Amino acid sequence: MFRMSGGAAVALLLLTSAAQAGDPPTAFNQCKACHKVEAGKNAIGPSLFGIFGTKAGSVAGYQYSPAMKSSGLTWDDATLSKYLANPKDTVPGSKMAFAGLKKPEDVAAVIAYLKTLR
Ligand code: HEC
Repeated sequence: MFRMSGGAAVALLLLTSAAQAGDPPTAFNQCKACHKVEAGKNAIGPSLFGIFGTKAGSVAGYQYSPAMKSSGLTWDDATLSKYLANPKDTVPGSKMAFAGLKKPEDVAAVIAYLKTLR
C-alpha cells in the first residue's frame, strides 16, 4: 500500500501553493473593499493593476487627492512597505481611509502580490 511520507506531503503542499502564486494573500481582502485589480477599473481607490514601479497618482481616470498627486513617490518595495504599514504618515492628506497593515509579513505578502498584477 502507498503511504506518503511527511516530507512528500510538505513538498506537495509547497508545489500547490507555488502553482497558485497569482492568488491574493489573505491580507489583500482588506484592500478589496476599495481597490480592483483589473486594468482600468477604478473604484473607491484606483485600480492596482500594474501599480508596482509606477509614480504615485498616475492611474488614468482616477481622481486623486492633491497630496497623493504631489507626493513624488514611486511605488517600489521601500515606498510600498512604508505606505501600506502607515498610509496616513507616509502620504499626509491622502484620502485612503485605511489604518495600515500591522504585520510586516502581511505587507511583504501584499507587495509580492502587487508585483504579479501586470
Ligand atoms: C477604505 C478604502 C481603501 C482601502 C481599504 C485601501 N485603499 Fe488604497 N487607496 C484608497 C484611495 C481612496 C486611494 C487614493 C488616495 C489619494 O488619492 O489620496 C488609494 C491609493 C492607494 C495606492 C496608491 C495608488 C496610486 O495610483 O498611486 C496604493 C498603492 C494602494 N492604495 C494600495 C492599497 C492596498 C495594498 C490596500 C490594502 C492593504 C489598500 N490600498 C487599502 C482607498 C483604500
